Amino acid sequence: MVKKEYWGQGIATKMLEYIRKEALKRGVHCLMLLTDKIHVGFYHKQGFTLLGCNPRGYYGVPDYWFYKIIREPREENFLRD
Ligand SMILES: CC(C)(COP(=O)(O)OP(=O)(O)OC[C@H]1O[C@@H](n2cnc3c(N)ncnc32)[C@H](O)[C@@H]1OP(=O)(O)O)[C@@H](O)C(=O)NCCC(=O)NCCS
Repeated sequence: MVKKEYWGQGIATKMLEYIRKEALKRGVHCLMLLTDKIHVGFYHKQGFTLLGCNPRGYYGVPDYWFYKIIREPREENFLRD
């Protein structure tokens, strides 16, 4: 989450890039997240794919589930600490 006065400066994009790089270092191949309706466009723009919607999500507000493959899954990365 980015404070409103800093929106539109590329901060969330940089945060997602940091998460992607850290995840790659740790052997992760897929990022997953859930968000609310107003951010669906943002995550599409970031290359995430919408898996679906839970119409009764967080406190009854619909949740939108996304994933992004950041590299091919490899068996040697499974079940690591
Ligand atoms: C969504 C959010 C993280 C975006 O942060 P940001 O730092 O402004 O994002 P960026 O500047 O990196 O934006 C990247 C691009 O996404 C676009 N974008 C930002 N928010 C968007 C939205 N809600 N829908 C569609 N596009 C969006 C920007 O216009 C920008 O487009 P461009 O590359 O064509 O210029 C920020 O608005 C936020 O924190 N919102 C509140 C989150 C919240 O309330 N969370 C709690 C419930 S989940």
